[in-house]
Amino acid sequence: MICVPITASDVNGAIKEMKEASKIADILELRLDFIRNISENDLGRLLSKKKKKIIITDRKKRLSLLKKAIELKADFIDLDILVGEKKIREIINNKNKTKVIVSYHNFKKTDRREISLVFEKIKKLKPDVIKIATFSNSVIDNLIIFDLIKKAKKQNKKIIGLCMGEKGEISRILSVIYGAELTFGSLREGKESAPGQITAKILKNVYRVNKLRNENPGVYGLVGNPVKHSKGVIIHNKAFEKLKLKNIYVNFLVDDLKSFIKAFKGIIKGLSITIPFKREAISYLDKVDPIARRVGAVNTVVKKGGKLIGYNTDCVGAIQAIEDKIKIKGQDFVILGAGGAARAIAYGIKQKDGNLIILNRTIKKAEKLAKGLKCAFGGLELSYLNVDCLVNTTSIGMFPKVNESLVNKKLLKNMVVFDAIYNPGMTKLLKDAKSNGCKVIFGIEMFVNQALEQLKLWTGKKINKNYIKGLV
Ligand code: ATR
Repeated sequence: MICVPITASDVNGAIKEMKEASKIADILELRLDFIRNISENDLGRLLSKKKKKIIITDRKKRLSLLKKAIELKADFIDLDILVGEKKIREIINNKNKTKVIVSYHNFKKTDRREISLVFEKIKKLKPDVIKIATFSNSVIDNLIIFDLIKKAKKQNKKIIGLCMGEKGEISRILSVIYGAELTFGSLREGKESAPGQITAKILKNVYRVNKLRNENPGVYGLVGNPVKHSKGVIIHNKAFEKLKLKNIYVNFLVDDLKSFIKAFKGIIKGLSITIPFKREAISYLDKVDPIARRVGAVNTVVKKGGKLIGYNTDCVGAIQAIEDKIKIKGQDFVILGAGGAARAIAYGIKQKDGNLIILNRTIKKAEKLAKGLKCAFGGLELSYLNVDCLVNTTSIGMFPKVNESLVNKKLLKNMVVFDAIYNPGMTKLLKDAKSNGCKVIFGIEMFVNQALEQLKLWTGKKINKNYIKGLV
């Protein structure tokens, strides 16, 4: 179930939000503490307007309002454990048909021992539902909440469990899939009632949390830092849906790759790897495909027979994108950058017998990569450019600094220009190239190609490229 919190600051606003939220939510949570000067009469008016089941919550812990909600036959009330055990028992004994959620919050951390003690304490009060929400300081904290949900399910206890904050985002998706009663989704962006909340629409239509609940889906995800603006979540979840696969793809915001892999190895079936982990990932895998090893970077991980195997699909994704526009053999290429993406593209171009020069801000890095590939290298200071194809793999021009480009517009003549950046689609470099009459290759081509190759490695299935391109 998806629960949409109503966070308007006055009664009329709340009525409006309730109407809008009822279209997407399975249940609403009316946050009385958000509404200025709310009276018992207001509460009556609000409850008379409800079209979906409703939870009445008041973080200001005004028991008179919560008791009134029982009198008015609200479906659920939420009682914070801080109300005190004696008062909670008294309310539970007089709750009539209203169901009671007893909740615990820790806005600073997620602690396994503390959560276990709190769970036992709330259980003794015999509420209808136990709710535990704690702040996540690391993606690994989510595993504590997943274990709690499994424990509650084994004991036939209804539970809502989640981690707050950006690093807890996966719990807002996976906890309900693992059997929690509900997850909270905001009415729209900017309407979050707690840090890390995702919109209800995305929970329902992209992550399919209701459809996949208790289905034990295969868990895939993007590992990186940052991960927020990646289009992978849309592409892969929509592809899984189209292929009728019970899989899910989430964003793992990771600080320490080694401990993430150790902790999540048992849970995940496949991973995409992005900045800054593409090179480091090689060290923690059981096996690395020869191309990824030669490239020196992994962007795809597949779990087979319990072993993690690394691949590089950036390489084939980029080469396909280039070959859609020009032949590589015997042509002259310049690559700007010497990071993970540059390594993949440079390797691919050399494999296809293209002539290559690698230019990078840090010349030592360009030199290292160029030596391995037996090609030329240099710095970024360009006074002329006589090539068939220019490839940008640096982050210059990427959102939000969209007005930047490493190359003077005057130099962009009679060549194909490929920018690996896909946000924005039309970078300054590509705009300049296009207005000088050059052919351009958009980063989204490479991104979609590499994603389709990932899907093939994970599932053995192919999906129509135009369908995926239409999603991003
Ligand atoms: P990716 O995996 O996307 O390739 P990366 O490995 O972090 O990411 O590589 C980023 C590339 O962008 C590097 O070539 C980097 O140059 P340095 O090796 O000198 O760091 C380049 N880059 C990043 N910021 C840059 C800037 N402000 N000017 C020029 N190049 C920059």
